[in-house]
Amino acid sequence: MDYVRSARVARDSFQDAEIASVQMRPLPAPAASAGPGIPDYLEKTYHWAYLDPRNAKYLDHEWVVKTILWWQHRRLEQAVFAEIEPGQHVLQSACVYGDFSKLLAEHVGPEGKLQIVDVAEVQVSNCRQKLAGLSHASVRHENVLHLRNETVDVVCCYFLMHEMPKDYKRGVAAVLLNSVRPGGKVVFVDYHKPHWAHPIKPVTSLVFDTLEPYAKDLWRTEIRSFAGNDPRFTWRKETYFGGLFQKVVATRNKEQ
Ligand SMILES: C[S@@+](CC[C@H](N)C(=O)[O-])C[C@H]1O[C@@H](n2cnc3c(N)ncnc32)[C@H](O)[C@@H]1O
Repeated sequence: MDYVRSARVARDSFQDAEIASVQMRPLPAPAASAGPGIPDYLEKTYHWAYLDPRNAKYLDHEWVVKTILWWQHRRLEQAVFAEIEPGQHVLQSACVYGDFSKLLAEHVGPEGKLQIVDVAEVQVSNCRQKLAGLSHASVRHENVLHLRNETVDVVCCYFLMHEMPKDYKRGVAAVLLNSVRPGGKVVFVDYHKPHWAHPIKPVTSLVFDTLEPYAKDLWRTEIRSFAGNDPRFTWRKETYFGGLFQKVVATRNKEQ
């Protein structure tokens, strides 16, 4: 038992140190390894949703995403696409169920490039199948936290932030901001604290308390705060559907 406890302590402090390291610039290169390894929060909280191949097969449908997002998915997707011009080089920071990545690849077009990164092998292989025939789109099996030396035009982070614990949110936000060129953008679309009288607030609150323990961080803290209000960027935010969802765009100043 003692051995198990000390192994857990060692693992947790390794993860903390790893996350702390990405909040400083310049970022060190990660150690080479066989695979990215599954983050603790993903294994404990979201195994059923993203790591179980059978469930992934049932969940990977457009109607599932639409239902989960209260039929706002198309509108939110369009809000992302409005920030991206055909021909640009785009990094998508995790897979999304349904047609999102395929439509994004089509929006970017063959003159552009779409790179998707996901830490779960099941998701990587499903997404590769969905993108078959779109040679300008590719999927890498990697933890977003470990990305280094990217200089893309736009990073798209669609409903990833709410699934990660606070330290991971900070680490990933720092990595994503470091991945865009001067003049480029990071586009976050995610949950947001709804208006107090929003009819869907009670059920969303219940779902978060039961299934999504890190989601309410976004009710209490602005996404830009997780990024330390990085002064190299100009920030703007829009909310949707009575405040239940938000788009936050961080545009990197040209001279930096
Ligand atoms: C983008 S989020 C949620 C998207 C949305 N709820 C949907 O309908 O799919 C889910 C994805 O994030 C991936 N993910 C979670 N943490 C990650 C990390 N640190 N690095 C890369 N991918 C990660 C999971 O493997 C999963 O495929």
